[in-house]
Amino acid sequence: MSDQPRERWGTRAGFILAAIGSAIGLGNIWRFPAEAARNGGGAFMLPYLIALLTAGLPLLIMEYTIGRRYRGSAPAAYLRLSRPAQFIGWWQVAICFVIATYYSLILAWALRYVGFSVGQKWGDDAETFLFADFLKVGDSPGDLGGYVGGVFWPLLAVWLAVLVVLALGIRRGIEKVALIFIPLLVVFFVILVIRALTLDGADVGLDALFTPDWDALTDGDVWVAAYGQIFFSLSVGFGIMITYASYLGRRSDLSGSALVAGFANSSFEILAGIGVFATLGFLAAQGGTEVLDTEGGLGLAFVAFPTIISEMPWGGFFGVLFFLSLVIAGWTSLISIMQVIVAAVQDRLRMSRVPAVAIVGGAVALASLLLYPTNGGLYLLDAADRFINRYGIALAALTSVVVVAWIVRKLPVLQRDADATSAVKLGRWWKIFLGLITPIVLGAMLVDSLAQEIDENYAGYPTSFLLWAGWGVAAGALVIAVLLSLIPWRGGEIKPPQEADEERSA
Ligand code: ALA
Repeated sequence: MSDQPRERWGTRAGFILAAIGSAIGLGNIWRFPAEAARNGGGAFMLPYLIALLTAGLPLLIMEYTIGRRYRGSAPAAYLRLSRPAQFIGWWQVAICFVIATYYSLILAWALRYVGFSVGQKWGDDAETFLFADFLKVGDSPGDLGGYVGGVFWPLLAVWLAVLVVLALGIRRGIEKVALIFIPLLVVFFVILVIRALTLDGADVGLDALFTPDWDALTDGDVWVAAYGQIFFSLSVGFGIMITYASYLGRRSDLSGSALVAGFANSSFEILAGIGVFATLGFLAAQGGTEVLDTEGGLGLAFVAFPTIISEMPWGGFFGVLFFLSLVIAGWTSLISIMQVIVAAVQDRLRMSRVPAVAIVGGAVALASLLLYPTNGGLYLLDAADRFINRYGIALAALTSVVVVAWIVRKLPVLQRDADATSAVKLGRWWKIFLGLITPIVLGAMLVDSLAQEIDENYAGYPTSFLLWAGWGVAAGALVIAVLLSLIPWRGGEIKPPQEADEERSA
């Protein structure tokens, strides 16, 4: 572990905004409306809210508490919680590695589309433009084909922007960026949503978002999607909140901060849903298509939106605003995903920040730049995203609650710890949700989802491709985690590092 004192957030507001910056991301703007559309529109809201209240928020509080109590990156914190639990931390690091490689790719597309919006470069056919002209997608999944220069350069720019902030550190980099850009993002988004709500046909879109289709509630897949969305969106289950909370002072409020960050995130997500569905209603009114007839997040952000931008007055302006919002939201989240890996390497190798960012950040950026800006990058992204979400994030979240609640039985200690400094006290329900309801529901859903996966290949992809790009990636993350956890730490390091300044309250 680094012998230097651990870095600290400057203020409580800085920490909360950084946590909100991590939570609000592509998941809110790109993934949520698409998941809602795919899973029955309004019907999705109910499992979504239940997942938020019974699993998302309790888990967020648990991760904050683990991070602050054990003051370490995910592997160090789990190691201090209980030596064998260390693999969970490394699992989360490996999951972040996979996510970062493709998350950056979507960010790179969004960055390019800020420029494309100005002259509406996609012309009359946004779909052909996206797949054929811009991404140059190949025919067969698994065949990477050649490099696509138009994607490579923005991807390189994204990586540089992320690594510079990380190198600047917690207070001068991550916190500053959040303090400036998250309020800006909210302003951009409010303008966009107001515009969307005043479009013709907005009401038809909103009907589709809020009218529940109760039948969908009996479909296990809808519930897995809702839980998966909540974990991804709140940034829980992949070590981010443990890492961020490890830079808090001992007396900082935990439960209150978690509730603020959690509700801010879901409010933004629902706002994004309203904006997106209202806009889809406008598109439906223009072309007579169904509101729910989109092809997932990709089709929504990069096909439906450009089409709408072309049809609305001041389209170029709103296009720039929309894609800039995607870039800001995704950038602050990618920074947090990378911080999980950087912090783990810093702790494990006792390395200071800049070399850790250069080595680890460089390695992740290289993997991303080698694999994704290719003709086959899109298929790879799709398979990796599906499998790492379900059999990475959701499974790691399930494992962490089972281990913490049932194997090492630390929930009462963590609850005391959180309650000692938090304005909002955790009741009995916190332990019931985490120890009982979340493991049962999540476990049942994952078994159901696994059965469907085995029954039918995801998106009709060939088995040979899914074996490495889907199953292989998810299983690889776990295997690497177990192997890393078997290597002993120098001096069997278990003690948390000293605090930089005990007096500060953040
Ligand atoms: N929480 C981040 C998002 O929603 C990862 O995109």
